[in-house]
Amino acid sequence: MGKKVIVIGGTGGREHALAWKLSRSSQVEKVYIAPGNGGTGEVGENVDIQPNETDKLIDFCKTHSVDLAVIGPDDLLASGLADKFKQAGLATFGPSKKAAQIEASKAFAKDLMKKKKIPTSSYETFTDANKAAGYAKKQNYPLVVKASGLALGKGVIICQNFDEAEKAIELIMLKKAFKSAGETIIIEEFLTGSEVSFHVLSDGKNYAIFPTSQDHKQVFDGDKGPNTGGMGAFGPISWVSDALKDEVDETVIKPALEGLAEAGSPFYGCLYPGLMITPQGPKTLEYNARFGDPETEIYVRLLDSDLFELLYACATGNLKPDTVKWKLGYAVTVVLASGGYPGDYQKNIEITGVKNAQQIENIELFHAGTKLQNGKLLTSGGRVMNVTAYGDTLEEAISKAYGAVNQIHFEGMHYRKDIGKRETPKGIG
Ligand code: AMP
Ligand code: GLY
Repeated sequence: MGKKVIVIGGTGGREHALAWKLSRSSQVEKVYIAPGNGGTGEVGENVDIQPNETDKLIDFCKTHSVDLAVIGPDDLLASGLADKFKQAGLATFGPSKKAAQIEASKAFAKDLMKKKKIPTSSYETFTDANKAAGYAKKQNYPLVVKASGLALGKGVIICQNFDEAEKAIELIMLKKAFKSAGETIIIEEFLTGSEVSFHVLSDGKNYAIFPTSQDHKQVFDGDKGPNTGGMGAFGPISWVSDALKDEVDETVIKPALEGLAEAGSPFYGCLYPGLMITPQGPKTLEYNARFGDPETEIYVRLLDSDLFELLYACATGNLKPDTVKWKLGYAVTVVLASGGYPGDYQKNIEITGVKNAQQIENIELFHAGTKLQNGKLLTSGGRVMNVTAYGDTLEEAISKAYGAVNQIHFEGMHYRKDIGKRETPKGIG
């Protein structure tokens, strides 16, 4: 009998991509996505249960004999959903609430980094706004002010002068812009360099490092404008040498996994450190306790191994790192966003051209903010769709991706035209 898998928190491009790759496993008979989006129904069955309906989700898994539950988003992991699934006897991919703190509490992550001597920016932690402002006054600028908790990627404020730092502290701590996520803040040194995403699958003991990738967080070309959830990604990054990868393994990945295990909370799932490669070497910006979005959209195109086998092995403590195989080419994903995103935007706008785009060789479309209504595909979120391409070269993947982007249209649609086109950083590669 084939295996049944459920992807939980399934409304984003990440979840569609995971469901797509799982559906291609020779072992998998059925993929459920809860609740899914306008595209996930093409690779599995959408289940109308919301992520906060824990008992309903567990009941569903039991009555449908689900073999593996894959939890996508950070807030679900931070709330302890993986623990509840495991307690119910379900094989679950995703870290415990305790281990997920490495993402959900930047103060926890910084303490771990200090303890394990992991390179990161110098910092102080505050729970008092006056003390924070007193510290900020004496620092060099730019300076970074961060809410410690989860803030949908918006809790990081880069301040050019003390005036801005004071406003950031006020916004987070006094005006409570990110609610309880801002009760503790971190003030840290501003790092310059090139950002790289690492992803690591871990079964609590063994781990496998993915090829590197790069997100494009700002909304406009040339890294201009406000930060978004991510406007596109590509990988692998040619200028990241094996020596640099080994250094990141030794100084950033291994000690973090060791530190969590020593604290009694071994990490089962995907650890995703965001790094700045600085002139002084790699430094950790943050750890995420889940797959990146939009990075996952490219990883599923690059992965040659069976994703079900890997995630099941992580969930059951049997990961064999040597069995994780990658294709030799490159993948690119371009995010199509609603007019106005990351600010206010309209919903329910019809999307056309999807079938034409899908007919292009080596293109897959992973939906995010879409829904099907009366046979029409409509927008339902800020990031609407990921157009992903695979190519033997990066140039080929980029050109394929934009060829497909040109087929798709909805009123107000905007996207970055420079995904994958960053120069090799000076002094590296
Ligand atoms: P984080 O959620 O901590 O990864 O921060 C989100 C984004 O803010 C990062 O991807 C960086 O672009 C930027 N950032 C965070 N911390 C720093 C820092 N210390 N120096 C420079 N940029 C930073
Ligand atoms: N790639 C950004 C994130 O997943 O947080």
